[in-house]
Amino acid sequence: MDFFTYQNNKLFAEDCNVDALAKKHGTPLYIYSRATLERHWHAFDKAVADHPHLICYAVKANSNLGVLNALARLGSGFDIVSGGELSRVIQAGGDPQKVVFSGVGKTVAEMELALNLGIYCFNVESSAELEQLNEVAGRINKVAPVSLRINPDVDAGTHPYISTGLKENKFGIAMDEAEQVFARAAQLAHLQVKGVDCHIGSQLTEIKPFLDAMDRMLALIDRLAEQGIVIEHFDVGGGLGVPYNDETPPHPDAYAAALVERLGNRPLKLIFEPGRAIAANAGIFVTEVLYLKENSDKRFAIVDGAMNDLIRPSLYSAWQNIIPVQQTDGQTYAYDVVGPVCETGDFLGKDRQLSVKKGDLLAVRSSGAYGFVMSSNYNSRPRVAEVMVDGDKDVLVRERETLAQLWQGEHLLP
Ligand code: LLP
Repeated sequence: MDFFTYQNNKLFAEDCNVDALAKKHGTPLYIYSRATLERHWHAFDKAVADHPHLICYAVKANSNLGVLNALARLGSGFDIVSGGELSRVIQAGGDPQKVVFSGVGKTVAEMELALNLGIYCFNVESSAELEQLNEVAGRINKVAPVSLRINPDVDAGTHPYISTGLKENKFGIAMDEAEQVFARAAQLAHLQVKGVDCHIGSQLTEIKPFLDAMDRMLALIDRLAEQGIVIEHFDVGGGLGVPYNDETPPHPDAYAAALVERLGNRPLKLIFEPGRAIAANAGIFVTEVLYLKENSDKRFAIVDGAMNDLIRPSLYSAWQNIIPVQQTDGQTYAYDVVGPVCETGDFLGKDRQLSVKKGDLLAVRSSGAYGFVMSSNYNSRPRVAEVMVDGDKDVLVRERETLAQLWQGEHLLP
C-alpha cells in the first residue's frame, strides 16, 4: 500500500498534486511519500514486535538525508556499506549504535570511522577482513563487535545481478569454512563475536529461499554453540521483494512470522536489513514528454528523464509501471518511453499503452529504491531534484544540480 493515488483523474502524492509539484520543482523529479516510508518501516517493526529485533534500513536503497532522517525519527537502525553511507546516517540524525556495516571491501579508514563512532556490528565477509579489523581495532584501543557473513549457497531465484547467496558470488564466507573462521574470530583479542549474518539476494518474491538459508544458518549457530561460541544475534539480511507489476511477494508479517517460527526457542535477536521493501513504492520518478516520434513499426515517447536518472530498466531489464500524471480517456498506443541519452539502452519502459502528447507528465512508479542513488552525470546531465511530501506539504530534500556543479573540482590545464 502506498500513497500515490488518483483524485479526479489527477495523480496525487499524499495530498500534493503531482502536476503542481512538477511545476514548482521542475522535471525530471523524484517524489517520495513520507507516510509510505513510515508505513513500510512500521510494517516490518510490528511484524517482529514480540521478538527482540532491530530493523536496519539498507541505506543503499535510498540514502537521501530526508529519507534517512524520517526513518531515524522512527528509531530505525541502518545497514551501511561505506564510510559515506555511515556519515550520511550520522548527518541525518541516525544512531551509530544501531548501525551494521556490510560490504566485502571495507577500507582501514572506514573501519576506523565506524569504530570511533561505536557502531553496533561489523558484518565481516572474509578471513582477510577479519584480521585487518582486529589489527585496526587494536591500534586504536577498541574492541570491534563482529558478525560473520556466511554464504548459505541457496538460489534466491532472482535476477543474476542481484543474487548474492550462491557459492559463485563474491559475498560472504563459504559455509564449509564458517566454523574455522568463527574459531579464529573468537581467539582474536580486539574482536567480540556477536552474530551471524547472511543476505541471499534482492527482490525475492517467495519465502522459501529465506527459510532454506535460515535452516542452514541455524544449524551453523547450533554447531557453534557446541563449541562454546555463543551467538547473540542473527542478521537475516534484506531482500524481501515488492510488487513492481504482478509479483505477489509475502507481506512483512508473513515473512517475519515464518522466520520467527523457524528460530524455535533459540534466544537470538533478529536483525533485518530491508531496503527495497521500505523505499521502492514510496517513490515515483516524474518526467515530461518532450517529443513524440513514429516510424513504420514503432512509436516513441521521448521524455526528459533518462537512464542516467533511473538505470534499473536499462541495467536489469527491470519493469516499472509508467502512468500518466493526468488521466485521459484518449486513444492509447504502444510507446517505448525513451530518454535523451545517446544509447540504445536508454529507455524507461517499452511497449507501454499510453495516451500522451508533448508536454504531458508521466510517473514511473516504484522508483524510491535504487533510483536516484544509482544516478550519474552521464551525458553531462545534472542530477535531478528530490522532493519529500508529507500530507499537503512538500520539502525539497535535494536541490537539482546546477551546470556549474557538473565540473566542480575539475581543472583546466595549466
Ligand atoms: N543487505 C545487504 C548486505 C545487501 O547487499 C542488500 C542489497 C540489502 C541488505 C538490501 O536489499 P533489499 O532489501 O533492498 O533487497 N540495485 C539493485 C539492487 C541491489 C541490491 C544490493 N544489495 C536493483 O535496483 O534491483
